[in-house]
Amino acid sequence: MTTIGKKMQDAMNEQINKEFFSSYLYLSMAAYFEDKNLMGFAHWMRQQADEEGEHAMKFYNFILDAGGRVYLKAIEAPETDWKSNLEVAEQVAEHEAKVTASIHDLYELAQQEKDYAAQVMLQWFITEQVEEEKNAAELVAKLRLIEERGTAVLMLDHRLSKRNGEGDEE
Ligand SMILES: [Fe+2]
Ligand SMILES: [Fe+2]
Repeated sequence: MTTIGKKMQDAMNEQINKEFFSSYLYLSMAAYFEDKNLMGFAHWMRQQADEEGEHAMKFYNFILDAGGRVYLKAIEAPETDWKSNLEVAEQVAEHEAKVTASIHDLYELAQQEKDYAAQVMLQWFITEQVEEEKNAAELVAKLRLIEERGTAVLMLDHRLSKRNGEGDEE
């Protein structure tokens, strides 16, 4: 077995940090919704936060399996307040687009480095990001439609509370 290269190891350690930051950001959004008594929104964000922690651990385990070394870095503090539910959803969409770009950069690096194992592993993330961006776009679209009208927000809150452990709604 070939050991993971230095460049790939550094980049994946960086990605561990990004995934944990994502987790922290979504947990902060959960706390924001919890404070507004929107428990369905909060539930959705908590699940999102859990998934990001799992993403971080996928990179953590891959580095170890590939004979590398994990180095954890400080996690930046997330924002804590937003102007509206829509603004939260828009930030989720924006954030996921950034994560997609960094996954694509990792894939390009894996190609340059001829790291085939990393390429296979990253394909899972490429597919996952399509799903993540779709979910975020859907949430933004629904909230735009609602324009923050009270009863509609409560109905969406109820729907979001039905999200299951696998991360897909319905
Ligand atoms: Fe992620
Ligand atoms: Fe994500």
